[in-house]
Amino acid sequence: YTPRQLTVNGKRMMDSLHDTCKWGTGTRWGDGPNDTGMSRLTLTDADKAARDWFKAEMEGLGCTVSVDTMGNMFAVRPGTHAGAPTAMGSHLDTQPTGGRYDGILGVHAAVEAMRVVVENGVTTRYPLAVVNWTNEEGARFPKSLHGSSVWAGTLPLAKALSLADVADSALIAGEELARIGYAGDVECSAAANPLGAHFELHIEQGPVLPENKQRIGVVAGGQGYKWYTVTIRGRDSHAGTTPFAYRADPMLLAARFLTRAHEIAKTHSGLVTTGIFHAHPGSINTIPHNVFFSLDFRHVDDAGVAAIDGGIKAMARELEAEGGRYKCAIEFEPLFDAPAVAFHPACREAIRTAAEGSISKQEVRDIISGAGHDSCATNLHCPTGMIFVPCKDGLSHNPEEYATPEDCVLGAQVLLDAALLYDQG
Ligand code: GLV
Ligand code: MN
Ligand code: MN
Ligand code: MN
Repeated sequence: YTPRQLTVNGKRMMDSLHDTCKWGTGTRWGDGPNDTGMSRLTLTDADKAARDWFKAEMEGLGCTVSVDTMGNMFAVRPGTHAGAPTAMGSHLDTQPTGGRYDGILGVHAAVEAMRVVVENGVTTRYPLAVVNWTNEEGARFPKSLHGSSVWAGTLPLAKALSLADVADSALIAGEELARIGYAGDVECSAAANPLGAHFELHIEQGPVLPENKQRIGVVAGGQGYKWYTVTIRGRDSHAGTTPFAYRADPMLLAARFLTRAHEIAKTHSGLVTTGIFHAHPGSINTIPHNVFFSLDFRHVDDAGVAAIDGGIKAMARELEAEGGRYKCAIEFEPLFDAPAVAFHPACREAIRTAAEGSISKQEVRDIISGAGHDSCATNLHCPTGMIFVPCKDGLSHNPEEYATPEDCVLGAQVLLDAALLYDQG
């Protein structure tokens, strides 16, 4: 196989991407009704509708679609050899204020690659698969790479299914999965349902490609990251009658915690983010008795993640020790932990060859992923590679997230070519 021997139908892919964004409450920006913006939280009715489309589309192409106990969906077309499929996968769920490209593009590009293979009657050596992973975002049920982590064996199924919705603790992941009809019967594990390789097209979600006017990133690896929830417990008391010296004010400590965490991450050349923050009881004239917030920190290597982790914990002990008569306590609950990742040389090679079949060497670069991806989980069990295309201003997790149709289509072509090169290699 040589790159561009088959060509993706770019218009067909972009049309299906935008058409299927009728499932989700799109925060719409830009000029047209189909321009940008998508809110399709995992395991909602909108996610079900997108899944139903995916199943019907893939069955229409003659693929067999199976669903595992985490709701991960595998659409497989046989090859001449038995054995584990070469997969192209990503996710159809989004952030609450997400876009139409993070994850969605990767699935639509994979679907388009499969369409092209089918309509050209190509016979691959190994089975070819398209995968839709459940809750990659971790936005509604707070585990990033939720479905792929269970598949990879880094998260126990029972724990994954027991997670509660961050916005409504009465809604449980396993029950929502069953409610939308996607609690499948295939065992969710790499052992029971192996993949031979995994390729993923994704927007970069950062500034490197656009700043360098480059069009394809061959992803070398991904940052490590950890998630915690932090609870600071103090003492609720009256805002007007409690002198500062008589307070154990967890809000004040939280403010100091967050600025110091920022400094610690910066010192180690990492990143830290708090995206969820609640104060209880939530009254203007009562000092809260506790505050609760999320913590996400990242670094390109595991030693950096550990250094930030250690620095933040030590800082928390210092803050606890401060204060007079009334002190606060700071508790950490670990939520998620992903090590730094290095992708497989053979997949990177296939992607580079594929990219250079379409554009000049100067427009292709090796790049590190700032974000976590399902590919980081699959990489634990099978050769994995990722392709990045630029997105406008490096912006994602925002309704203005945008990648040009030209770059999306180029990315899909590279995905198709890389998967077939790998299969034939
Ligand atoms: C997953 O998308 C992450 O990077 O948080
Ligand atoms: Mn994504
Ligand atoms: Mn995302
Ligand atoms: Mn992601």
